[in-house]
Amino acid sequence: MRVLITQQIPEAGIQMIVDQGWEVTLGEQGRVMQREALLEKARGKDGILCLLHDRVDRELIDCAEGVRVFSNFAVGFNNIDLDACREKGIRVTNTPGVLTDATADLAWSLLLGAARRLSEADAFVRSGRFTGWGPTMLLGADVTGRTLGIIGAGRIGRAVAERASGFRMRLLVHGRPGSSPNPDWTEKLGAEWVDLPALLEGSDFVSIHCPYTPATHHLLGEKESRRMKPGAILINTARGPVVDEKALVAALKEGVIGAAGLDVYEEEPRLAPGLADLPNTVLLPHLGSATVGTREAMARLAAENLIAVLKGQEPPCAVV
Ligand code: DGY
Repeated sequence: MRVLITQQIPEAGIQMIVDQGWEVTLGEQGRVMQREALLEKARGKDGILCLLHDRVDRELIDCAEGVRVFSNFAVGFNNIDLDACREKGIRVTNTPGVLTDATADLAWSLLLGAARRLSEADAFVRSGRFTGWGPTMLLGADVTGRTLGIIGAGRIGRAVAERASGFRMRLLVHGRPGSSPNPDWTEKLGAEWVDLPALLEGSDFVSIHCPYTPATHHLLGEKESRRMKPGAILINTARGPVVDEKALVAALKEGVIGAAGLDVYEEEPRLAPGLADLPNTVLLPHLGSATVGTREAMARLAAENLIAVLKGQEPPCAVV
């Protein structure tokens, strides 16, 4: 079998594939494979282990004639044209579950960081402006006892909700339209299942955990930010295009909302003009699952998925 791994992933995953005796073509460490190289290297492969920035569209699928699986090294799979894969009988897999805790932890890091103005405070100290303690210096937002609104009631949304109990927060949850609350955890945590306007109007913090689909494109735009409480804080660790980033920059500039903690961007790795200049933001480079243990688990699961398909077995995490 011939396999392409489009960028270096943790060794454990690569080794699992090499151990099959298969030929592995490996992308570079820390470098996104450029489109032309991707199209070229995809030729003649039986399986491709791809990353969230690899656009798996009809053009790539045509180049990768004979490919049997795209094993995505991510839980999200909005980079993959599922219809095109279905039409060609190509399997698509992802890596859910293993990154839930790391991503929830990072959402909370952003929430607390944005509330307590950590990026401003860090820059303040580094620039030598900290000349003494002051009772009104860099005051942030209160977190304990406030209301957290969670958009997306899947694994990660739930893990974020669970972490809120230590902060004695009221929880509002908005799931996919037409879906109903999962009593296993919403009832246990005392979370209220609400529609999007009620969530926006009632939350001091709004954290996004839904997948990116045509239905969630710009779910939070100008109108929605105006519905949010003045001073409310928006956290996004899901996918950038769920938020209209230009509208967000305007809302943050005009003080329509208080702050934002972002790990993902609409046109990653580019930021909307003006976003990086805003002091009321904490901006991270898509680190949701970036812990040693999580990335290793993702590498193993992505390899397991790919190997299963190429051996004619059902993969543990099939999307298509
Ligand atoms: C995912 O898995 O979808 C994250 O965005 C990266 O781990």
